[in-house]
Amino acid sequence: MTIPLVIGNWKMNMLASEACDLARSLVDRLSAVEGVVIAPPFTSLYPVSQIIKGSSLGLAGQNFHFESKGAYTGEVSLKMLKDVGCGYALIGHSERRQLFGETDETVNKKVHLAMQMGITAVVCVGETGEQRKAGETLSVIETQLSGGLAGLSGESIAHLAIAYEPVWAIGTGLNATPEQAVDIHKFIRKFLFERQGFSEKMGARILYGGSVTPENCAELLREEEINGALVGGASLNFESFYAIIKSSLEP
Ligand code: 13P
Repeated sequence: MTIPLVIGNWKMNMLASEACDLARSLVDRLSAVEGVVIAPPFTSLYPVSQIIKGSSLGLAGQNFHFESKGAYTGEVSLKMLKDVGCGYALIGHSERRQLFGETDETVNKKVHLAMQMGITAVVCVGETGEQRKAGETLSVIETQLSGGLAGLSGESIAHLAIAYEPVWAIGTGLNATPEQAVDIHKFIRKFLFERQGFSEKMGARILYGGSVTPENCAELLREEEINGALVGGASLNFESFYAIIKSSLEP
């Protein structure tokens, strides 16, 4: 069975001291729990890495540049993320796509780089509310997947997770229902195996994200198709994030 993956995306929140406090609480209560990853802002990565060192908590970057170094003012490379202890990186979050010009092409370059460097890429896909209303959900996701994962080999699935994050559910308090999420997860899984040639035996971790809370996580995470959660707002508070993690561990 795939171990569920629960990732806390802290976005542009918390000063380093606050991030360290939260990381410390997580380490204290979860030191031996596998499959929990936190994605603090860049400025907190190093101090947080020192706190979680030796624990089972994983560390993720929220974004990186696809070039390895050079004159890219304001950017951070994947090598830099790895250097401060990241084993995971979010790629193509809808906020990057909508606000900072991320495209399927740049997602693809980043995914290839992550594979080369042995970093687990968490590739985010999802439709807007307008696209869902217009019946375009599956075609939007298909385009994001085929562009973002172009040229990846079958074995690379071991270093990949897909996060389905409907844009209309992010930060709105309006989560996808388990049925809505399962439908899309099935579609993604089929795409990965049939179109991408990934080996079914190796499984594929498909996470759900978008207004996941302690109140709705159990019904989402009990679905076999949902292999974990990408949590925004509710991961900023120890009690709510802990409740979601606990729920992911229940059979
Ligand atoms: P919320 O959980 O705040 O809706 O954010 C989801 C998200 O964007 C995680 O990456």
